[in-house]
Formats: sequence, C-alpha cells, structure tokens
Amino acid sequence: MLNPNDNRPIILTGDRPTGPLHLGHYAGSLKNRVALQDTHRQYLLLADAQALTDNAGDPAKVRRNVLEVALDYLAAGIDPDKTTICVQSGLPALAELTLLYLNFVTVARLERNPTIKEEIQARGFGRDIPAGFLCYPAAQAADITVFKASVVPVGEDQAPLIEQTNEIVRRINRQAGRDVLPEARALVPAIGRLPGVDGRAKMSKSQGNAVPLSATSDEIREAVRRMYTDPGHLRASDPGRVEGNVVFTYLDAFDEDRALVEDLKARYRRGGLGDALVKRRLEDVLQALLAPIRERRAVFARDPGCVFGLIRAGTEAARDRTQATLEEVRAALGLFAFET
Ligand code: TRP
Repeated sequence: MLNPNDNRPIILTGDRPTGPLHLGHYAGSLKNRVALQDTHRQYLLLADAQALTDNAGDPAKVRRNVLEVALDYLAAGIDPDKTTICVQSGLPALAELTLLYLNFVTVARLERNPTIKEEIQARGFGRDIPAGFLCYPAAQAADITVFKASVVPVGEDQAPLIEQTNEIVRRINRQAGRDVLPEARALVPAIGRLPGVDGRAKMSKSQGNAVPLSATSDEIREAVRRMYTDPGHLRASDPGRVEGNVVFTYLDAFDEDRALVEDLKARYRRGGLGDALVKRRLEDVLQALLAPIRERRAVFARDPGCVFGLIRAGTEAARDRTQATLEEVRAALGLFAFET
C-alpha cells in the first residue's frame, strides 16, 4: 500500500460522515475515485472533524456515519488494497497544520468563499457561524496538502475550496522561499451537479430528494416515479423539454448507451414519447447500477469489525505520511525546534 518507490500521482478526497452517500456523490466523485485507484495513489478521508463543524451538537451521528460512509466506499468498488481509507480525527498532524494555515488566509477571504457562503445560507446560521465552520477551508487545505495530492476528485460545489487551498499553498511557499507544497487540481465531472429527484439544484439527504447508494429496488422505483420531468408535457403526443428535465439529466449521468439516450431525447422533443417510457429506461439503468452496490454493501455490513480493521490500518498507514509533511512545513516556515 505504501511503497516508497511508488511515484504515481497522488489523490486525496473525502466526505463528511453525516449520512449515507447517494447518487449525487457517485456521479460527482465516487465513480472517478473507483476508476482512478489503479493509476494513482489514492487516499480517502472520512472527514469526521469537518463534519463536527456544523454538527457539534450531535457527535454520535458523525461517529455512526464513519462506518456507513466506509461501507458506501467499499460497496461502490473502492478496493482497500489500492486505496487508503483513513479517519480525519485519527490524524493529529491535520489539526496542527490547520492551525498554521489559518495564518495564511484572512477572515474576509473565508467569508467570500462561494461554497462557504452557500452552505451558511443553507444552514441558516445567520450571524451565528461556528468559527470552526468558517475556517474549515483551511482544514481542507491541510487535508489535501498533507498527502501532497495533485488531484482532488470532487463535485462542482467543492471547486472553490481547491482554489482556496492553492492560494494558501502559494502563500506558504512564498514565505518558505521554496515549493514545500504542491498545488492541486480539482477533477470535476463534465455532468456538473446532480439535481435532486424533485428538480431542486442539489441532491441532499436533508432536503429529502436523494437516492442513497443503499436504496432498495422499491425505493429506486418510487424515486423514479416521483421524479420531476417537464410540467408542460401533459400528453405523450406533446413536444417535451429535455433541458431541466431530471429524468434526462440522470440518463445523461448514468446511462452508458449514449446513442439510445440521444434517440430518446429527439423523440421526446418532437412529441410522441411519454414520460412513462423514459422513466422505465432510467429505472432499468439505476436498478442495474445499484443492485451490485447494494449486494456488496450487505456483505461488508455483516462484518463491521472487518471494516473498522480496514480503516484502522489505513489511518495508521497515513499517520507517518501526515506527520512527515507537518515536520517539513514546520521546518520550511522556520518554527522553533529543540536541538536534538
Ligand atoms: N468538504 C467535503 C464535502 O463536504 C469533504 C472533504 C473534507 C474533502 N476534506 C476534503 C473533499 C478534502 C476533498 C478534499 O463533501
């Protein structure tokens, strides 16, 4: 797993363990991670410390979901022999680096981060923003740089955080007078952000418009049945709109048969193709995608001890690496150190 002669590019990404992962996570990032684990050295962070920045009142939820998200990773095809899965709060170097990085970003810049702005709105914090929440971009910069990652597969909404990470990196490198830390690139899928089944801009568990990766076949059927289409498309014979029609957005994201999707789109636009038929295709595609994920998840879920063993081993393997980067940054910034 941690061969020192391994010079493949490094990937770091992660998720807040606040609930099970859903199709939005899959399309936005998980699919890329599964594909890239053969050609890259990949680390996945169960970002429990970041999850606490807006869940300080419910640490039990965060703790519980560490296992759930790990199960989602394994179910989706993350192979623990290829990818190191680790728990953020088990890596103390991250906390120390965060504290250093906070000196290389201003409060005004944190407040201007579009992701943070949007999340503050969505959470209704008003003026009562937890300081840890406002500052989490610096912690995320620590997550990324501590592994010296060059690629960060994330959904579109995370791109401003990678930009801010690179700003911090440049400031630290300038202060150090050399490139201690590499810049990283966000790998965002072309499909963009997956809308919720109700057509709202973002799929999210808290909005009740998400399809979890662990959905049963009945839940998948029901989600597709409820799915938002074109409200102006009343009869099958009417011409319909494909843009903003969630069923087509999902077909674009998940159906491998591009020619078929283009044909369905053309027929829908022309008129003569009913919602029921398009939905049937989408349901088939989603059932086929999620059935093996659900089955693998059930197998791992029967042995949580084994899953905890995997993430413990991953966290321990990551500890040396994270500690080493911390020492490098401390030295590069010229911090006080006792003579040994
Ligand atoms: N902010 C990410 C999310 O909300 C989770 C995350 C934590 C992350 N640390 C990261 C993503 C580092 C990419 C890189 O899903």
